[in-house]
Amino acid sequence: MPSVFLKTYGCQMNERDSEAVAAQLVAKGYSLAPSEAVADVVLLNTCSVRDNAEQKAVDKMTNLAGQFRKQRPGVLLGFLGCMAQSRGRELIDQLPDVDLVVGTQKFHRVADYVDDLLAGRRDKIVDTEEERGSEAAIKEHLLTGAAKSKSVTAFVSIMQGCNQYCTFCIVPYTRGQERSRTIPDIVAECRELVARGVKEITLLGQIVTSYGRREIPEREGKSAFVQLIETVHAIEGLQRIRFTSPHPKGYGDDLVAAYGRLPRLVESAHLPVQSGSDRVLKLMHRGYTRARFLDIIAKLRAVKPAMGITTDIIVGFPGETDADFAETLSLVREVEFDNAFVFKYSPRRDTPAAVMPDQLPEEVIEARHAELLAAVNVIAERKNKACEGSVAEILVEGPSRKNAARLEGRTRSNKIVVFEGSERHIGQVMDVKIVHAAPFTLYGDPAIVNLG
Ligand code: SAH
Ligand code: F3S
Repeated sequence: MPSVFLKTYGCQMNERDSEAVAAQLVAKGYSLAPSEAVADVVLLNTCSVRDNAEQKAVDKMTNLAGQFRKQRPGVLLGFLGCMAQSRGRELIDQLPDVDLVVGTQKFHRVADYVDDLLAGRRDKIVDTEEERGSEAAIKEHLLTGAAKSKSVTAFVSIMQGCNQYCTFCIVPYTRGQERSRTIPDIVAECRELVARGVKEITLLGQIVTSYGRREIPEREGKSAFVQLIETVHAIEGLQRIRFTSPHPKGYGDDLVAAYGRLPRLVESAHLPVQSGSDRVLKLMHRGYTRARFLDIIAKLRAVKPAMGITTDIIVGFPGETDADFAETLSLVREVEFDNAFVFKYSPRRDTPAAVMPDQLPEEVIEARHAELLAAVNVIAERKNKACEGSVAEILVEGPSRKNAARLEGRTRSNKIVVFEGSERHIGQVMDVKIVHAAPFTLYGDPAIVNLG
């Protein structure tokens, strides 16, 4: 059978979609190629959230087309995901060597389309249609981690789309309207994963705090999302639950309280703030103020003082003044995030912000990006250093990505800990002493705590 190389750009949702596509191809008998050079089919699962992400995928495809079409004319080339959704057939007009363009509601069709193309039944395929029920079509898992070890952690997609329409964001257009899977459907998938040895599940969606809000009524003051967490939490054998990404406006008291009540819901939150200025937050259509955001952080820390908190921030949103930027810097210093992803504003097609007045010059955006990143890093390193000498509970995931001779696990607060261990530790929850903190990685010693 032919082999497929699948390259993924962008977020965890994309990673998850790629895994499901790969699993569907494997189920049909295809093998997964270790590199594009030996593959019969090369698929790029794309990201549209910033222009440079799109550019990377287009450049990659341009190179592939140039290289392969001369040497190996039979290789099949395809674009999947967000950029495929937003650009559709235009991609084939631009790059005529591309055979397949599949949007975000049709991932489950990829394996059939590859069959059709390879068998010569069809020539080019573009499918960016909407499909009812597609939110429940991403279910298959490969469950092989790094170095072919069995996966200890898994992502489960609970919903698709987003209705928030932040003025800078292309996601509502590429991923569509919010559509949630049912609780029984999600729980069945989680149960199966746990039965196959998975210890930690991350519930995934673009705005998970909006999960099921139209379909599933509140019960005893608990939102649909909290009800889902509770039901997954009850699965026997599951050790940890995470989720990403929530929206600050969806962080109700029921969700805050869940961290106190549910021991397997780990103390970690990725809470995208985007800006520290109320004026900019309003222009972004974020639906909360700086004060409300700070209030959520305070409540979370009141329930779980060790909460790991990370965020996303955009610098250079249209009209952002020096004073607005200063508010973002001060928010970062006030909250002391464990880490923050700092992005340069990138105008996206069809979004209101792209046509707002006062688009900022590149130099201003660059300078603010560098200044904020430096501030974020100083705090992140300081917080990491403060872990030295402490004991942390980690879930051991497998060989370290940086050095395969060592193992790595993650703390409940989502920090990576590298340590010397053996195969038998993989999948275990264990205590390690943090003996050294590098800027972005902690180094642990299990022997000091566990005495072997
Ligand atoms: N809620 C989603 C957001 C996806 S986009 C999630 O985190 O799952 C991820 C991040 O990219 C956003 O939080 C935002 O900080 C950044 N981003 C989105 N659109 C952007 C744009 N036009 N320019 C720069 N950064 C952007
Ligand atoms: Fe994008 Fe805002 Fe939704 S950042 S994914 S429109 S919450």
